Formats: sequence, structure tokens, C-alpha cells
Amino acid sequence: MPESVKEPLIQTLFSGYIGQGGKVDKFEKELFGYIGNRYILSLNSGTSGLRLALRLAHVGPGDEVITTPMTCTATNMAIIDSGAKIIWADVHPVNGNIDANDIKRKISKRTKAIMIVHWGGYPCDIEPIKEIATKAGIKVIEDASHAMGASYNGIKIGNHTDYVVFSLQAVKHITTVDGGILCCQRASDYERGKRLRWFGIDRKLKDANFRHECEQDIIECGYKFHMNDICATIGIEQLKYVDKIVQQSCSNAEFYTNELKKIDKIALIPQLENRKGSYLFYTLHISANIIDFSNYMFSKGIMVSQVHSRNDRFTCFKPFCNGQLPGVDEFTRSMICIPSGWWITNESRIKIVNEIKSYFGRR
Ligand SMILES: Cc1ncc(COP(=O)(O)O)c(C=O)c1O
Repeated sequence: MPESVKEPLIQTLFSGYIGQGGKVDKFEKELFGYIGNRYILSLNSGTSGLRLALRLAHVGPGDEVITTPMTCTATNMAIIDSGAKIIWADVHPVNGNIDANDIKRKISKRTKAIMIVHWGGYPCDIEPIKEIATKAGIKVIEDASHAMGASYNGIKIGNHTDYVVFSLQAVKHITTVDGGILCCQRASDYERGKRLRWFGIDRKLKDANFRHECEQDIIECGYKFHMNDICATIGIEQLKYVDKIVQQSCSNAEFYTNELKKIDKIALIPQLENRKGSYLFYTLHISANIIDFSNYMFSKGIMVSQVHSRNDRFTCFKPFCNGQLPGVDEFTRSMICIPSGWWITNESRIKIVNEIKSYFGRR
């Protein structure tokens, strides 16, 4: 957390207004400046953003949502919560992103949306997925929780599809302690989303008429998903450093790529010209026992992991398992993630690479 947050945070804390107010408006304006999307809603979590996106896309009981098992459970729990049925699509065996060809095979009359996740912040191939969605008349929801600052075809993630969700939880590129963002593509979704995040109430109408909100009619039930001024104050301060934060992650990733490509027991994710990742973590594939490698790295004080377990193996998602996912099998067999966030300094990345080299040098 930057030191510079202290003063504005104390000011907001004792300002007499800590709910959703001017700081939230300011944070959203500044997010527009960074992401480039004017229809941004700040929320209390990424999970709320996913739930709200599904609601805006009118996903409900009887519908199907095609999604990836390679993500945080929040992505797919939001689908279950909407009442829709999960249809698993396979992933690319190397980069872990959802496979557009498998999405195409799984479209049915009941499909209402496609949920995609940019694994580790490396963008999915968005264009073919958008094409499939347009043809089927359905929506695309991006879970971009790992991908703040990433871009596809030269345009920042947050501008490509119907709904894009970012998490601002504690260990993301920027954090508001807990928080989330939903980027919409249409003004109508943005306006409806604004109401739904606050019990379905139109706060603007309330202010204009200077009436108590209880007197206003509520057209549809909403949630309590809004961001407050305390979190927004932290967000405004964090945004001042976002370029630096993303740049350090990218620089760490570039360093890892250059150093690790020389090790023949390691396979890296090919980086395509039209995609710029933001590397919340760095994914590699190893020809070694994952547990043995992880234990070695832990013993050297370096945290490595698979970050998220394949969701289809959890009991709560079992009812939706139907068929093989060979890409997921292959991806998870050899994948391991090493830390590449802003907190990894040039010194610590050298230590990480040296330990990996010495592990494979021993074999
Ligand atoms: C891919 C992904 N989706 C969704 C979430 C949920 O975000 P939040 O914790 O802000 O609700 C996370 C959080 O870790 C995540 O990594």
C-alpha cells in the first residue's frame, strides 16, 4: 500500500461521509481515464461484478453458460447462483485459456452467455469468441481479475466485450482491500447496473427530487454491491501507481522468459504479437514432479503454486461434469506458477530464477 494513501484515507474516514459518495464517482472517472471505458461501475468485490454481469445479461434458471474450469471458484459460483447450468469448455493445454473451438461445439439453444478468464493476465483470443457469441445472439462476460493493464489487439482489456469484471481484492494488481469493477459496453446496462448495485434504487432520481429513498418505487430487486468512499479513496491512490505496478509485472515476466527458455525441462507460454499480458503471476510447464519442485521452492522461501484448482473437480460443480476436458488435463499436469507481481524486485527475480536453475541442474 503506498504511504501516500494515509492522508486522503484519514480525511475520508473523518469527513462525515464514508458510504458511496463523491470518492466513488472520482474513482470511476479515473478508472475511465486508465481503462478507457466510460461505463464503469465500482463494486464491493469481483464476485459481485460477475453476479451483476450475469444478471445484466438476463441469465437465469433454464439457461446455460459456457465457462472454463481454470479459474477462481468465484467465476463459476456466480453462474450457479444465477440458477443457470454450467457447461464446461476445454482450455488451451499450454496457456490455460478457454478454447474457442470447444465453445463453438458446446453452443446450444439454451446458451445465454460465454464466460472467459484471462489466465494469469494473458488475454484469451477474444475475437473468435466474440464472433461465436454474435452469431448465436448471446453475451460474452470476461473475468479479467488477473488482467488489469493487459491488452488485446492494442486495446486495453475492459473494452472488448459486453461485460468485463476486475477484482480489486488484496493480491490483485491494484487493490481497494476488497472491491471490484464492472465495465459495460452499453449505456443501458450501465444505468441498470447502477440501480442493481444499490437495492434497485435510482440514487440520481432520489437526489434530484430531494426525497427520501424509501418513497421511490423500485422496479426490480437489486443487491448491496456498491463500493464505499473508504475503498474508493484507496483505489484513487492505487491508480496513481498502476502503470508502474503493471510494468514491474511485465518486466519480471520478460526476465523469466529470457532466463527460463534456456532450460530444456521447462516449456513457456508462447507470447503472441496481438496480446500483451499483465502477469499477475507467471505460468510455466515443467517436466518434473510438481510437488517435488514446489517443496524445493518452498524450502528456499519461494511461494509457487497452481493458483487455482480446476473447478470441475470440486463436489459443488460435479453435477455439471459431462465429458472429457483433455486440454485441462494436460494444462494441469505440468503447470506451475511463480510470483511475478510488483513486489518481486529485480533482486528477488534473480533469486527465483537461480533456484529454478539449480533445481533442474540437479536432475
Ligand atoms: C479469476 C478470479 N475471478 C474472480 C475472483 C473473485 O474476486 P473477489 O475476491 O474480488 O470477489 C478472483 C479473486 O481472487 C479471481 O482470481
